[in-house]
Amino acid sequence: PLSPDEKTRVKERIKAELKRQNAVLVAHYYVDGDLQDLAWETGGFVSDSLEMARFGRDHAAQTLIVAGVKFMGESAKILSPEKRVLMPDLDATCSLDLGCAADDFAKFCDAHPDRKVVVYANTSAAVKARADWMVTSSCALAIVNHLKAQGEKILWAPDRHLGRYIEKQTGADMLMWNGACIVHDEFKGLELDLLKKDHPEALVLVHPESPESVVNQADVVGSTSQLLKAVIESPAREFIVATDNGILHRMRQLAPGKTLIEAPTAGNSATCKSCAHCPWMAMNGLQGVLDCLDKGTGEITVDEPTRAKAKGCIDRMLDFVA
Ligand code: 13P
Ligand code: SF4
Repeated sequence: PLSPDEKTRVKERIKAELKRQNAVLVAHYYVDGDLQDLAWETGGFVSDSLEMARFGRDHAAQTLIVAGVKFMGESAKILSPEKRVLMPDLDATCSLDLGCAADDFAKFCDAHPDRKVVVYANTSAAVKARADWMVTSSCALAIVNHLKAQGEKILWAPDRHLGRYIEKQTGADMLMWNGACIVHDEFKGLELDLLKKDHPEALVLVHPESPESVVNQADVVGSTSQLLKAVIESPAREFIVATDNGILHRMRQLAPGKTLIEAPTAGNSATCKSCAHCPWMAMNGLQGVLDCLDKGTGEITVDEPTRAKAKGCIDRMLDFVA
């Protein structure tokens, strides 16, 4: 880790390079707090995967530095092929993306040609190229409701918990891929029930990638930005948060004085203070951002036929939420 002095020096160099290279930093709520703060300080942006995609597309910068995981960089490149998209660490991926290989997914789609193919944002460009719609957790319910109203049956991939939640809420006919997020899958319903007994006034906030036993106990189910909004706007003083604990940084900034309690995972104990933290989001750091800018490392590329096809399903979502 960088010493405080080194941190200051690296930040100053990043700020100068962002300006010089007409670049902007776009980060997800789960990345390190220093990176989130730097994004805001330099005219960049921190949000959920839907808003990151929109911000990158609409910003005039020539270079986008995307601090998050690979699918977020790919979405930025798919929407803005004329921009240079760099990531602090190209190995920062996602268990949902890893668990949904494009060739297996294509076979699944081929076997069910009567279904509309709806994929979660957390997938590769090649999987998106095979889909009709992309959705994120903030708009998935609305889009599936829309498709159901049109009489469509759905093929859903890859997150089984989010898929099951949407199926239950909408009553849509959904055939599911069997994927999961290694972070949210660890939240435990039984332990949450016990924790709630100790904090009867707390509002329970849950990301829908969590298991059903956890979602069932939620007061609010939503994307990262929807959970953040709930903390800011709710009159409650205490919250149990079932999502990656990287988001607590922004929650504390925007709702100072409120008590935030991490929802229990299998590993929560006195010795594990950050069990619910995505190992791939954690690969993003200040030094990685500086390396992108200094050396041009971490550039995202997507071959043109794949990009053009994948853009169709992202645009359909962006037009729908516009
Ligand atoms: P959001 O779109 O809610 O930010 O989720 C992205 C993600 O990777 C959650 O684990
Ligand atoms: Fe993927 Fe889960 Fe990490 Fe989000 S938190 S990037 S869904 S592994």
